[in-house]
Amino acid sequence: MKKTTSKWLYFGAAGAAAAGVLIPLVPVLRRRAMRVTTILRKDHRLVSAMLTTMEFTPKVNRTLINRLVEELYDSVTMHEIVEDEILYPIVRNVATSEWKASLEKASRGQQIVKEKLQKLRKTDPMSGDFDKLLADFKHTILNHAELEEHSIFPIIEERTSTERQTTMGERLHQRKKEIQQRLAA
Ligand SMILES: [Fe+2]
Repeated sequence: MKKTTSKWLYFGAAGAAAAGVLIPLVPVLRRRAMRVTTILRKDHRLVSAMLTTMEFTPKVNRTLINRLVEELYDSVTMHEIVEDEILYPIVRNVATSEWKASLEKASRGQQIVKEKLQKLRKTDPMSGDFDKLLADFKHTILNHAELEEHSIFPIIEERTSTERQTTMGERLHQRKKEIQQRLAA
C-alpha cells in the first residue's frame, strides 16, 4: 500500500511552526548526529502518542481507523527491525552476566510485541475485540519500552563510547529510511 509522509510528522511540524521555531531548528537537527538510544527513545514517545490518538479517535470512519492502524504498524515494525538488527546484537556483545536476565526478558518482549501487533492489524477496527486488543497492545508496548529504557539502553550507554553510539545512530537512521521505502512501495 502506497503511503504519504506520516501525519504524525505534520503535527510536530505544525506545532513547531506555530511556536515560530521550525525554520531555525531544522538545519540544527539535520546537522546534529544522534545517539542510537536517543532515536529509539523518541520512537517510543511517538508510538505512545499514536496509541493515545487511536484510543480517542471516534469509531465513525473505518478508512481513518485503518489508516491509523497502518501507520502504527509501519512505525512499530520499523522500530522493531532496527532494534533487532542493530541494537540487540551489540547489546549481547557488550552486556555482562548481571544484565542477562533483563536481556532475555527484553528479547521475549520483542517477539510478543510483534505477535500482538499482527493480531491487532488483522482485527476489524470497528469491533469491540479491537478495543480490547488495542488496550492490551498499549500496555505491552509501554512495559516493553520501559524495560528497554531502564535496563537495555543503559548497557549501550555504559559499555560503548559516545562515538560508537552516534555511529550506531547513523546506521539505524539509514536502515529506517530503507525500511520506510520498502513499506511505502
Ligand atoms: Fe524499543
